[in-house]
Amino acid sequence: MTSFITPIKYEQDTMYLLDQTLLPSKEVYIEINNKEELWEAIYRLKVRGAPAIGVAAACGLYVCTRDLLTDSYGEFCAKFHEVKEYIASSRPTAVNLFWALNRMEQKLLALKSSASSSCWEKEQIHIKNQLKEEALKIYQEDVEACYAMGMNGLSLLKPGMGILTHCNAGTIATAKYGTCLAPLHLGQERGYDFKVFADETRPLLQGARLTAWELNKAGIDVTLICDNMASIVMKNGWIDAVVVGCDRMAANGDGANKIGTSAVAILAKEYKIPFYMFVPTSTIDLNTPTGQDIHIEERNGEEIYKLWYAENMAPEGIKTYNPAFDVTDAKYITAVVTERGIIYPPYDINLPKIFE
Ligand code: MRU
Repeated sequence: MTSFITPIKYEQDTMYLLDQTLLPSKEVYIEINNKEELWEAIYRLKVRGAPAIGVAAACGLYVCTRDLLTDSYGEFCAKFHEVKEYIASSRPTAVNLFWALNRMEQKLLALKSSASSSCWEKEQIHIKNQLKEEALKIYQEDVEACYAMGMNGLSLLKPGMGILTHCNAGTIATAKYGTCLAPLHLGQERGYDFKVFADETRPLLQGARLTAWELNKAGIDVTLICDNMASIVMKNGWIDAVVVGCDRMAANGDGANKIGTSAVAILAKEYKIPFYMFVPTSTIDLNTPTGQDIHIEERNGEEIYKLWYAENMAPEGIKTYNPAFDVTDAKYITAVVTERGIIYPPYDINLPKIFE
C-alpha cells in the first residue's frame, strides 16, 4: 500500500505545511502561525497545486483569525475579511484559493450572531469552532474528491500504458492522492504497471523535483524528460495517454494549468493521444466565461535563469517573460475527469450539468 504524503497537517491545533521548495532533498514541515507566514508560503510555492492552496488557505484563515480580539460580531467579520483579502492576494490563477476563502467567509456570515456585545465573548468561541470545522471539512472533502477522481481516471486507463504528465498534480498538490496522479497511485496498488514520463516543467521544475520524487517514492516506473522531449516520446509510440491537472477551468472548458501544458495538448492531438484534464469541481469556475478571462500569474524572470544555477545562465537583468500558467483550449481536451464523473465535449453544455 502506498503511504501518501500530505502537504498540509493540522495536529493539536497547529498547522504545518510541507515546504515543497526544499524537495526532493529535504522533507521539512513548517509551522504556520500568522497571515504573513501563510502568504509567503503560498507565494513562494512552499505549498502549491490548486487544491492544496485552497485547503491551506481555508485552514490558514482559521488559524490566522482565531486569536483576533474584537468587541462584536461585526468587528470580527470586518477583521476576518481583511485577513481573507490579504491571503487572496498571494497568487491569482488557481481558483481554489478564492473558492476556499469565500466558502469560509460564507460560513462566518451564515453564523450571523444576534448576540449583544455582552455575550460576544462566549459567542465567538462557538463561531471560531464552527470555522475550524468548516476548514477541516474542506480538507476532508478534497481527500474524498481526489480519491473519487482517481477511480474515475483509472477507468480510462489500461495496465501497462505509457503515460505522460506535466507539472505535479499529485498527492502533495492536494490534501491527499492528487488529481491526475491519483489514478497512477491507485493503479499501482492494483498492479497496473504504468510507464510514466514526467516533463521536468521549467522554470520551477515541479515535474523533476516533485512528480519524479513522488512517483519514485511510490515505486511507480517514472522516467524524467525535459519539456522539449515530449514530442519525441509521443512519436516513439511510448505514450498512450496524457494526464494533467488544472488551476482553473472556465465555463467553456478552456483550462489553465502549469506553463507548457497547452503545448503538450497540441502535440497529443497531432499524435492522436487522448489528453485528460483532471479538474475537481472546486476548480471549475462557471463565472469565468472563457480561458481569455483567466488571470495568468507572471513571476520574476530570475526564476528562469538564476534560481537553480550556481552562476547566472543569462546576462544579469536580461529581459524575460515568465508566465506561470497557460490555457489549454477546450478543443484539445479529450475529457475532463472530476470527482462526480467524466465530462466529454461540448463542455459549455456539459460542465454546468455536473453542478445540477
Ligand atoms: O505553480 P504551481 O506549482 O502551484 O502549479 C501547479 C499546477 O499547475 C498543477 O498542475 C495544478 O495546480 C493542479 S494540482 C492538482
